Amino acid sequence: MKQKKKFSPKELILTAGPSVSEKEVRYVTDAVKHGWNNHYRDYIEKFESAFAKYIGVKYALSLSSGTAALHLAAIGCDIGPGDEVIVPEITFVASANVVKYVGATPVFVDIESDTWCMDPVSLRKAITKKTKAIMPVHIYGHPANMIEINKIAKEFKLKVIEDACPSIGAEVNGKKTGALSDVGCFSFQGAKAVVTGEGGMLVTDDRYIYEKARDYGNHAKDHTKAMWHTDIGYMYRMTNMQAAFGLAQIERVGTMVEKKRKIFSWYKEFLDGVHGITLNTEKPWAKNEYWMSSIVLDKSVRITRDDMMVELKKRNIDTRPFFYPISMLPMYSSVKVNNPVAYYVGPHGINLPSGHNLTREQVRYVSLAVKELIRK
Ligand SMILES: Cc1ncc(COP(=O)(O)O)c(C=O)c1O
Repeated sequence: MKQKKKFSPKELILTAGPSVSEKEVRYVTDAVKHGWNNHYRDYIEKFESAFAKYIGVKYALSLSSGTAALHLAAIGCDIGPGDEVIVPEITFVASANVVKYVGATPVFVDIESDTWCMDPVSLRKAITKKTKAIMPVHIYGHPANMIEINKIAKEFKLKVIEDACPSIGAEVNGKKTGALSDVGCFSFQGAKAVVTGEGGMLVTDDRYIYEKARDYGNHAKDHTKAMWHTDIGYMYRMTNMQAAFGLAQIERVGTMVEKKRKIFSWYKEFLDGVHGITLNTEKPWAKNEYWMSSIVLDKSVRITRDDMMVELKKRNIDTRPFFYPISMLPMYSSVKVNNPVAYYVGPHGINLPSGHNLTREQVRYVSLAVKELIRK
């Protein structure tokens, strides 16, 4: 019988990669040719309105990055000096930095060992008289436990800002992330499921938050008097050309989220039950977007996380390390914390190739390499 030739990649299998169709090219070309003067906001308005509809909120504000959205969300929630904001240890540094930008203090809490998101038990313990807000992060596409987090927020009258940057299309009991709290923030940075190159979106049902964020993101411009500014604001606007790209992406978001889920289903097929690793989970109340299909190495695995990444690279497989616990980073390390789950998961986690253009054959190849290395 003829043996099937073993798959061997000629190029590095990347961790991310966008889905770009003819539609993106068409809309961006139109914006480049015609999106000026009185048409300079045409795609911005269409993108914001399509995005608000998709998430299921009243207001969407397109911005230059997810970080800008988080910063403006903190401003919109009137967070300032003397306030504390509770942030999970495992997140991109931007979640903590924006708390600092407004002069408040981030307080780091532990994560759950399966969802890798904020642990509501650790959250409750961290609340003080100074706590003003909670910032759950839907890490790698799995929603944080918003049912418990919102209960705690209600009990202590706290604002909730969802860092939904990595979770477009994820849901809690059928409701989209970003629409589960006072305000949600998304990122369209190039490695995300929906991209605009760089970019972000703030979403909310709260008119006060929306208007304050909109104005502060545009140099605190006065809407009633030309060239008049009422405070020191920021320049966080998105361009019409990026919005044209974003509109095409959001019109295709359903199939794009399904592709992410498909990629994870392939990893699950090849790696589920393999001794020594934990894969992403999906709670019964959740829909995981699986932005990054990932593994966490158990204590029993002999190869270190970093050596494993080096070995995978030799086999033409690119990976990313998990985010380190934020309180390990030099500028936050003076804070004393006791977050053992995050301190284990962060340095033992690997994001596997998860880009839109992956094939089942590539996922199989990556999975076989992972299996081979954990047996070493
Ligand atoms: C959890 C999280 N928060 C915030 C951000 C910031 O988004 P951006 O890079 O668009 O500023 C990211 C993006 O990488 C993220 O993953």
